[in-house]
Amino acid sequence: MPMTPLECDMAPAASRQSWPLPRCGLLVLALALATTAAVGSAQLSSESYYDASCPAALLTIRTAVSTAVLLEPRMGASLLRLHFHDCFVQGCDASVLLDDTASFTGEKGAGPNAGSLRGFDVIDNIKMLLELLCPQTVSCADILAVAARDSVAQLGGPSWAVPLGRRDATTASASLANSDLPGPTSSLNGLLNAFSNKGLSSTDMVALSGAHTVGRAQCKNCRARIYNDTDIDASFAASLRASCPAQAGAGDGALEPLDGSTPDAFDNAYFGNLLSQRGLLHSDQALFGGGGGGATDGLVSAYASNAGQWGADFAAAMVKMGSISPLTGTDGEIRVNCRRVN
Ligand code: HEM
Ligand SMILES: *[C@@H]1O[C@H](CO)[C@@H](O)[C@H](O)[C@H]1NC(C)=O
Repeated sequence: MPMTPLECDMAPAASRQSWPLPRCGLLVLALALATTAAVGSAQLSSESYYDASCPAALLTIRTAVSTAVLLEPRMGASLLRLHFHDCFVQGCDASVLLDDTASFTGEKGAGPNAGSLRGFDVIDNIKMLLELLCPQTVSCADILAVAARDSVAQLGGPSWAVPLGRRDATTASASLANSDLPGPTSSLNGLLNAFSNKGLSSTDMVALSGAHTVGRAQCKNCRARIYNDTDIDASFAASLRASCPAQAGAGDGALEPLDGSTPDAFDNAYFGNLLSQRGLLHSDQALFGGGGGGATDGLVSAYASNAGQWGADFAAAMVKMGSISPLTGTDGEIRVNCRRVN
């Protein structure tokens, strides 16, 4: 009987062992190539990439991140978000770190980034130390990926091995930053599309959204929700209105915790909040409650009751996100200063 692609993928472990390779080998190869186009994971190396060329690289990054996060827990959130905003815009290539110059417009001024992204100084400090230890060896893009992992771990979340070997872009794109990053008023379909455009599944999208278990958002990004959405807990909305005025203006930058239950702990409380209509952003609440269509309700419930399942899915999704279109081999460069091309 001829087998379909799905049978090849879903064969139980026992039968997979004795699977006649020629029958599905080509399919596996084709799938691997197709996946590489969107999420270039095949091109990255293991976490031991710098073991010979810069043995202290990972310890240096971890120490600097720990210090920064101990001084200010929110910095862990900010460093995690930097990696996300890097990877979604022309791949994980540190394009987000490039400063504007007279002849060059970078991504820092784009809508989702301006007046919002932070943590650049921490990355600069790490890069300065690494340039002293091993000049022009560790890329800014790899620093972002490791700093994100170390931030999550320092805040009490899961950890994972970070594939390494990314190189740094010599270009950036403000227009891609505006088009490819999802916004706080996104619908569930908008979120699913934005992630699927980067080769990430709906499970990846929901798991990664759990990053909003830490960090802060500005009043201007949740104003419409807390004044006008109907799928919001009444007392939650009332307490937020007290610090986020209805009118645009002076209060735009007031900070609200993305997870009002445990603001600085990397736990699964974010998902519990969604079950009780306490998501801060419209895009957060879109993951649960039918307001967004309901397709991800089951996953949100599962993550709310099973922290281990979420942690494992989050870690796996971070590796996938960190593998979006990396520059490897002789592509790009190893920047000396993360803020400008060599
Ligand atoms: C699902 C689509 C997403 C949307 C629409 C979204 C949107 C936002 C917005 C609007 C803010 C607040 C920015 C501000 O007010 O200055 C924010 C903060 C944050 N986002 Fe997301 N985000 C999404 C996914 C992610 C992902 C995938 C990650 C990381 C894996 C992430 C990590 C964070 C963190 C940690 C913060 C807090 C940053 C800080 O306190 O400095 N977000 N996000
Ligand atoms: C709430 O909706 C009303 C009616 O559409 C609109 O005039 C108002 O500006 C909205 N308020 C906020 C804070 O978005």
